[in-house]
Amino acid sequence: MTGLFLTFEGPEGAGKSTQLSRLTAQLAQRGVPCTVTREPGGTPLGTRVREVLLDPALSIDPLPEFLLYSASRAQLVANVIRPALARGEVVVCDRYADSTLAYQGAGRALPDHLLRQITQAATGGLSPALTVLLDLDPAVGLARAARRGHPDRLEQADLAFHARVRAGFLALAGAEPARFLVLDATQPEDALAEAIWAAVAPLVGAVEGGWSTESLPL
Ligand SMILES: Nc1ncnc2c1ncn2[C@@H]1O[C@H](COP(=O)(O)OP(=O)(O)OP(=O)(O)O)[C@@H](O)[C@H]1O
Ligand SMILES: [Mg+2]
Repeated sequence: MTGLFLTFEGPEGAGKSTQLSRLTAQLAQRGVPCTVTREPGGTPLGTRVREVLLDPALSIDPLPEFLLYSASRAQLVANVIRPALARGEVVVCDRYADSTLAYQGAGRALPDHLLRQITQAATGGLSPALTVLLDLDPAVGLARAARRGHPDRLEQADLAFHARVRAGFLALAGAEPARFLVLDATQPEDALAEAIWAAVAPLVGAVEGGWSTESLPL
């Protein structure tokens, strides 16, 4: 595999989608071939699963919730992420397996070994080269997300749940410091974009293709 796999993680409203689009704009400006996707979603199956998972009218138990995320992920990895990496592209994914370990593990208390075993099966062990964790107090993130309007099923969960999710993300980052870039998501958007580019540029430069990673105005 020759491409580069990057993921964005963090709680609701942390700024993942904002920073992901700023990063992919940087990559596009340099002509770096890039595939942008998200979880759950990214495939026709994943899009249908996403609608189910985020539906505020549905009550979904922790185990089937986890299996639905895993179904979406397995389809995405096989049909989108691996083929793009095989073409030598940079793949940027808005949420990935760490979200499962944080939300379904730390948040919903499903056993870690079960989550890791099924996630291994769904991904074939595919792990990102770099994961940007935008860390934020969940109360701040939910207030930001609330400005967008109707809360989805996860935004309606209580603050204690979201606090466990945040701690889960930080524990994952602590266990794999080489893979994670942890950023304080209360920083201004520009400062975050600069810090993310500083971490991504050398990785992009190291993959095949000879793309320019010289600093351009952000
Ligand atoms: N650094 C920042 N400081 C303040 N507000 C921000 C910052 N980054 C993004 N926002 C705002 O916060 C809101 C949520 O941002 P965004 O949608 O990027 O978060 P997200 O992590 O993708 O959320 P979700 O988990 O719901 O998809 C948006 O209104 C966005 O403009
Ligand atoms: Mg988002």
